[in-house]
Amino acid sequence: MEITGAGESLTGDSLNYDRQRELKAFDESKSGVKGLVDAGVAKIPRIFVRPPEELNREDQNSGDLTNTQFVVPVIDLGDIIVSRADKVAGVRRAAEEVGFFQVVNHGIPKKLLEDVLKAVRGFHELPREVKADYYTRELMRKVKFGSNFDLYESSFANWRDTLFCVMGPEPLDPQELPPVCRDITIEYSKQARQLGINLLELLSEALGLNPNHLIDLDCAKGTLILSHYYPACPEPELTMGTSKHSDPDFLTILLQDHIGGLQILHQDRWIDVPPVPGALVVNIGDLLQLISNDRYKSVEHRVLANNIGPRVSVACFFTPHLYPSTRIYGPIRELLSEDSPPVYRETSVQDFVTYYDQKGLDGVSALTHLKLQKGSDF
Ligand code: OGA
Ligand code: NI
Repeated sequence: MEITGAGESLTGDSLNYDRQRELKAFDESKSGVKGLVDAGVAKIPRIFVRPPEELNREDQNSGDLTNTQFVVPVIDLGDIIVSRADKVAGVRRAAEEVGFFQVVNHGIPKKLLEDVLKAVRGFHELPREVKADYYTRELMRKVKFGSNFDLYESSFANWRDTLFCVMGPEPLDPQELPPVCRDITIEYSKQARQLGINLLELLSEALGLNPNHLIDLDCAKGTLILSHYYPACPEPELTMGTSKHSDPDFLTILLQDHIGGLQILHQDRWIDVPPVPGALVVNIGDLLQLISNDRYKSVEHRVLANNIGPRVSVACFFTPHLYPSTRIYGPIRELLSEDSPPVYRETSVQDFVTYYDQKGLDGVSALTHLKLQKGSDF
């Protein structure tokens, strides 16, 4: 395998190297970042090194400071029947002001969460030949193993591998899922979807709408499960686990293990989202920011690379993704008035996802290109 054989020649700081050739060698190895770690690399290949321009840009808007004062809200979903108004208020504040919150007493058993993380780790730790069968960049494949969906578009590769599964709207044939995580992925995605429906009801009410409003707009129609594996990194300060981005969906429910490294950008500071045993992280996606006409914030976040690892996380994205639909999304009419004119033009989910994927994680929100000029009519 060329990538490991080349060893030292893939590392170093020369800007003058054949990046395309090295990206291709990494891609064709079909073994992801885990493959590099297994081969014993002591330095990260230069395709993973964050270029100086990127570091500078990040410094400008964050100072790369980590704020330890601010705490991402934790919402207790227990007792929801008796204190629904409180929960709605908590969700509203978190979605409007932070874009991220954690939920506890959400109804998904802790044992199931632990088993999902174990099964995902089990998949990523299968022999490379077994995982290579799932490795593909084919757009419409529903179950695929890969590393860096934007490998050829981004300015540097992330220290992360992913198993990507389209769980709906069309039912997935279970046989397509790797046996090691088959049953548990199906069970988890069912329960995560139900939790997502409950959250979308609260989020609808918090906008002053009928509880079914967001569900009737098909916000829970499709889900993707992204099972990430962040191997221990020998030079974590030179790269990233996941570059700064916001999510291309309505809502994300994220299960993270105990390692940590997830951060959100809040008031120009990076804030840690600390692992809380049994909790799930919830965040607003770009499409919900769009239809809520900027009431809810799809906040930028990133994952630091770490010399401790592996770190495992499982993101459940609420989006119909590339499922064919004629539905067009724009700011919800009921939220518009003379004082709050539409901020975005309309789009289909397929067009939005295609634009997002072609752009890659370049640090610029994909919503920017849908922004209307101030003063537009509605
Ligand atoms: C994502 C994401 C964070 C994590 O999948 O979009 O931001 O902790 N994941 O893996
Ligand atoms: Ni994300």
